Order: sequence, then C-alpha cells, then structure tokens
Amino acid sequence: MAALWSGRFAEEPHRATFEFGASFRVDRRLFEDDVAGSLAWVRALADAGVLTADEHTALGVALHHILDQGRGDPGFVSGDDEDVHTFVERLVVEATGEIGRKLHTGRSRNEQVSLDLRLYLRRRIPLLRQAVAALVTALADRADAAADTLMPAYTHLRPAQPILAAHFFLAHAAALRRDDDRLAAAAREADALPLGSGAVAGTAYPIDTGALATRLGFSRVVVNSVDASSDRDFAVSFLHAASLAMVHLSRLAEDLIIFTGDEMHLFDLPDALSTGSSLMPQKKNPDPLELIRGKTGRVVGHQIGLLIALKGLPSGYNKDLQEDKEAIFDAEDTLGGSLAAMTAVLDGLRIDADRASRAASGLLLATDVADALVARGVPFRDAHASVGALVRRLVSEGRSFDALTADEWRDADPRFEPGIAERVTSAASVRAKQTPQSTHPEAVAAALADTRAWIASR
Ligand code: ARG
Repeated sequence: MAALWSGRFAEEPHRATFEFGASFRVDRRLFEDDVAGSLAWVRALADAGVLTADEHTALGVALHHILDQGRGDPGFVSGDDEDVHTFVERLVVEATGEIGRKLHTGRSRNEQVSLDLRLYLRRRIPLLRQAVAALVTALADRADAAADTLMPAYTHLRPAQPILAAHFFLAHAAALRRDDDRLAAAAREADALPLGSGAVAGTAYPIDTGALATRLGFSRVVVNSVDASSDRDFAVSFLHAASLAMVHLSRLAEDLIIFTGDEMHLFDLPDALSTGSSLMPQKKNPDPLELIRGKTGRVVGHQIGLLIALKGLPSGYNKDLQEDKEAIFDAEDTLGGSLAAMTAVLDGLRIDADRASRAASGLLLATDVADALVARGVPFRDAHASVGALVRRLVSEGRSFDALTADEWRDADPRFEPGIAERVTSAASVRAKQTPQSTHPEAVAAALADTRAWIASR
C-alpha cells in the first residue's frame, strides 16, 4: 500500500477503503500508454529547462526499461499500488532514486489518466474497426454466395415482400459501416492532448504543449484545463459507438436465430457453431448468437452508467471519473468478442435455397398484384381493396395466386390483364423495383460492389 500523497496525512490509509479506491487491478491495462506519456513528459520537462540533460537521459532509460519489462511479462505490471500511474512512478524512483522523484513535476494524475485513456483508445479503436471490416467482409461473401437466391423480407415479423438474400446480408453490412464511422469519430474526439492542464488550473512550467502533442501523435491540444480535467465526452462517444454496434449485432443475431430455426430454416447454422442440450438429444441451439444478444445490454448499460456518473459532477476532476475505465474496457472486450463470434457464424452460414425461395412466394406477392392493376390505370387504393378481397378469399381456401386459373383472375377483377399469372412471380417482383437502395438485382450488385470497394479502402 504505497500512495503518492501520504505526506499530508498523520495516519496510514484505512486498508479496506484504500483497496476500494484503488484502480490498479483495472487500469494496469493503460501501462504502455502511461509509460509513453511519461517518456514524452520528461522530454517536455527537459525542453522547458526543468530537468537537466542527464536527468532526462536517466529517466528515459528507466522508463524504456520498465516498458520492456512490462511488455515482456504482463505479470510484471502488478503490485499493491493505488493505480498504474503510481506503479510506474514507484518503479522509476526505485531505478533512479532522487531523479525519479522529479518525474511528476508540473503534472497531475488527473490529466495523466485522461492522456492514458486517449492514447489507449487511439491504439485500440483501429483494432475494433478491423473487426467490423472483417464482419462486413463475411456479409459481402454471403451476399456473393447467395447469387440470385430469393428470400422473404419481413415487417412485423410477418412475410412482406420477396428480396434477394444478398440484399438481406448487405442490409446488415450497411449498419456496420455506420458503426465504423462512429468508432472513427470517437477516435477523433479522443485526439487532443490534455497534458499542460495540471490538476485543474494548468501547469506552472513553460511546457511547449504543441510540441508535446505532436510528439505524442495528437493533432491538437485541449482548450481549457478545467474542462479537460473532467472531460470524458470521448469515452461516452466510444461507449455510444460500441453500444450501437452491439445493438446491430444483436439484431443480426435475432434475425439469424429466427431464420435458422426448424420452422423457418431459411439458413442453416453449422454444427461447429451450435450447441447441444444435455437432456434433449435433438437440440441444436444457436448459443453464440444468443450470447451476442445477451451481452448487448451490458454495453448499453456501460454507456448509460457513465452518463449518469457524469451528470452530477461539479467542475474539475472527481474520483467518480475512475468508473470510466471498467466501462470502456468491458465494452471493448464485449464488442471485440461479439464481432469475432458473429464473423465465424457468418462464415459458416449456408442458405437453404429451396426453403428460402419457397418462403419468398405466395401471398407476399400481393403488392405486385395490386401494382399490376395500377399499371392498368386503377387507382392504387382501389387496387389495394380489390387484391385485399382476393387475398381474403385465397386465405380461406388455403390457396395462393399461383393456383388461380385465368377465369378466376378475371372473376376476381375484370381489369387484370390477360397473362397476369406469368407476371406475378418473386423473380419479377424484385426486378420490378426501380430505386438504387432497392432489391433490384442490378441495384444489389452495385451495393455489393460498393461494399467491396469500402472494404478495399480500409
Ligand atoms: N485512478 C484515477 C482515475 O482513474 C487516476 C486519477 C486520480 N486522481 C486523483 N486526484 N485521485 O481516475
């Protein structure tokens, strides 16, 4: 139990409460970033004339040595220190003695923890974006493999209209591309150097913050030290991006759970990605998909939790802010794990083309039948009523449009053109769509090409 602030106190810290407040168990994950920040800080102190060249060299050597040790052995980053900043400073002092005790000159852990988190997110967000791109690739591959296979699109989870199965896969790819944008935006928000803010009022040493920002790879410096010491907007933005990505994964999971079930079986879930029942020998359960859906609440909860932690804080640093890290790390782990699991599921997913095509025909062609009347000059509302009556009759007879004879078509509505039966098919339905975002085969081919180009641009 070694705190950086014991000088002011006559008593030893209360053991259990000190442990309650310690964050090293969690923030040890910021080790590399903390050392990188300290390396840049000692250089800035030397440039400002606060450290001699020799002192700077000694601190740099010690920090590099600590970094190597921590990288080589994760178990090295441990101890009963209060947090990762304390840990690194203790090791520097152990290595350099008196000189190490100058490391923290002009600097506060308040800005240090903000710096570390910003560096961490900058390093880790690209990995999540790569995982998003891998899933988009898996969806594009499934769209490719689906070729001209048809399936139903649903509204209210009732069969609505035929679409190309490729259109379904690319729908989820479109949502994930927005997630990539949001993750990139969170990284841009984190891209500001907080050092120079001190504890809250700034630092009393002539630190060249612009040079320090450049050295640490930041494109700008924060504008206000009071704001900077408690600004966690970038953390909330990251959690928001992660939450929405999880919501998209959860909705895809739900689609696949329904579509791979025995009743629908539009898709087949490979055995390797399913789990059995300890009791019921026939079961083939979609556990990975259910887990993705289940874990989504955790990440959304982290975002809400941090917003609530922030809402009542007075200006400047408050210890409540320490809660940001568990939220960020767990959201990162959960999203990363879910993306990998979903990519594996997509890679193994097969379309049951017969079942999917059959499910895409029948009464869900009713809109096309109504459009056929509109083509004959019938106002749409009248066409809707006429086809609605026909559907009601067919449902009661347990039949569909394809069972109607030419006479029956004419009896149902004399305005139907002759040869209507041949025109009312699922394939004709998708070809009838005319907008770029539609399921027309050419529009879907263009969307797939656009998705491939996006992947290639990563
Ligand atoms: N462990 C702290 C955190 O994560 C670091 C900052 C501590 N600052 C302080 N004044 N106690 O927020």
